[in-house]
Amino acid sequence: MDNRAIGIFDSGFGGLTVMSEIAKLMPNENLLYFGDSAHVPYGSKSPETIIRFSKNISAFLFSKNIKALVIACNTASTFALNPIKKTLPIPVIGVIEPGAKAAVKVSRQGRIGIIGTEGTIAGGAYEKTIKKISKAKVFSQACPLFVPLIEEDWANSKPALDIARIYLEPLIDKKIDTLVLGCTHYPLMKSILRRVAGENIVLIDSASAVALEVRDVLVKNSLTANPKNKGKTLFFASDNPSKFQTLANRFFHTKISPVKKITLE
Ligand code: DGL
Repeated sequence: MDNRAIGIFDSGFGGLTVMSEIAKLMPNENLLYFGDSAHVPYGSKSPETIIRFSKNISAFLFSKNIKALVIACNTASTFALNPIKKTLPIPVIGVIEPGAKAAVKVSRQGRIGIIGTEGTIAGGAYEKTIKKISKAKVFSQACPLFVPLIEEDWANSKPALDIARIYLEPLIDKKIDTLVLGCTHYPLMKSILRRVAGENIVLIDSASAVALEVRDVLVKNSLTANPKNKGKTLFFASDNPSKFQTLANRFFHTKISPVKKITLE
């Protein structure tokens, strides 16, 4: 049994979608969450910059004595998973593989659509992972306007619906049967995505698949916390902790504990 915390990071508050699934599945685990609000968005930045930010955050969380690290950000998982794995002596879990596996499992016709930030789509990590484990056809679409729409609380608006139609149309034309929501924020606009995609396309929100993967990894490495432990979560943000808190409260309807500001570099 190991009561050290699991470290989780994202470019901002969006990774709380992953954190809340982990907390739901393993309520006895202690969690440390880092939102890189000073550098958000990652989606439009270069791989080198994302790797640099991600390495700094990983080193910070590692210095807090974490037992495993979850890269909750799709863009950071695309570019920084392997570089971080090489530097940290603890299990490191990204969000791409669990999401890709979940998609392959449910896709009946083997026609999978991926939506994500510009970086995630350009990096092609979902496509590579799916092709490695199946013969499915993959169709990708970057949706750069979704993150700002969601952060401005326009996720359920008419403009969001119109933009979602424009982004998803080419994928629907390809007759996809499964759509991977390859970005931390997209579960927050699921109702509009469902409306545009219709009832026949399965939407994959990888957060719950990631939580299951984290549990598997902890069990395999004998790292699970004492079942009697009541899990606590500490939050860090690299800028504007009060904005981080406001967004987190708005979207997750839970009061998160004080957010500590940490300046890295
Ligand atoms: N967390 C990012 C992701 O999942 C979305 C927000 C951003 O661009 O930083 O790719």
